[in-house]
Amino acid sequence: MNNTSKNIEDRCFYCQDVSLTLGGRNILSNVDLKVLPGEILGLVGPNGAGKTSLFEVLCGRYKPFKGKIFFNGVNIDKYSFINRSKLGLGRTYQSPVIPSDLTIEETFRAARKSYRPFKKTHDAEWAARLSGLNLTWDKQAGDLGTFDRRKLLLACIILRAPKYILMDEPASGLINAEIDELDLIIRRLVDEYKIGVILIEHRLELLSEIADKVTVLDLGEVISEGTPEFVFSDPKVHEAYFEG
Ligand SMILES: Nc1ncnc2c1ncn2[C@@H]1O[C@H](COP(=O)(O)OP(=O)(O)OP(=O)(O)O)[C@@H](O)[C@H]1O
Ligand SMILES: [Mg+2]
Repeated sequence: MNNTSKNIEDRCFYCQDVSLTLGGRNILSNVDLKVLPGEILGLVGPNGAGKTSLFEVLCGRYKPFKGKIFFNGVNIDKYSFINRSKLGLGRTYQSPVIPSDLTIEETFRAARKSYRPFKKTHDAEWAARLSGLNLTWDKQAGDLGTFDRRKLLLACIILRAPKYILMDEPASGLINAEIDELDLIIRRLVDEYKIGVILIEHRLELLSEIADKVTVLDLGEVISEGTPEFVFSDPKVHEAYFEG
């Protein structure tokens, strides 16, 4: 490895050769992927391809039987979910669970408490603004609509000044105007704050617009990677996605 590539490895989030079994079944096989600060990596694949399972491995909730994960040059294989999150790895969920009995203010307080050390320079108003959440402190989180729930949870992650965020289908259940807004929110996190984002998304047209590069999983294996133009015209991807 030359010096330039070593420097890049020290400034990115990547996994190498990750393989996972669950209940005796192969779920992921030899998966490599890499995202740089200020970059959006799209992660796509048919239902059941292993996208969410890969996120579970990356954030430390599933233990792969093989492979390594690096965060800005640090091997984090032995880091727990909480320690990865303290390092600056954020994660959103396909079906976000909201603390419905708490108000927005209480949700922020709970997020601060559970995620020490809280970065004092970054306050809840800043995080809410970045996530596009309209702040009404005493509103019950459970009364928020789908998009606002996602924004609230994203704001709780932003509060910790993450370096990388794994987003699991953040556009699901949103209408087109909301997806346009989500697109702007993600771009701002990436362009202004140089956060690296791995984005699981089924809408290939959204990824074509927003992603710098795309990795395609099928049956737990990477079958294609590269620019959105390259990947979305790759016959292997068409076969897996549209004819599988
Ligand atoms: N805890 C688990 N135990 C056993 N099998 C699991 C578990 N979690 C996921 N799987 C299996 O792993 C495979 C990959 O699931 P995963 O949820 O990662 O796919 P996905 O690509 O995120 O799909 P989708 O697009 O539907 O969200 C599926 O066959 C699923 O049934
Ligand atoms: Mg999934």
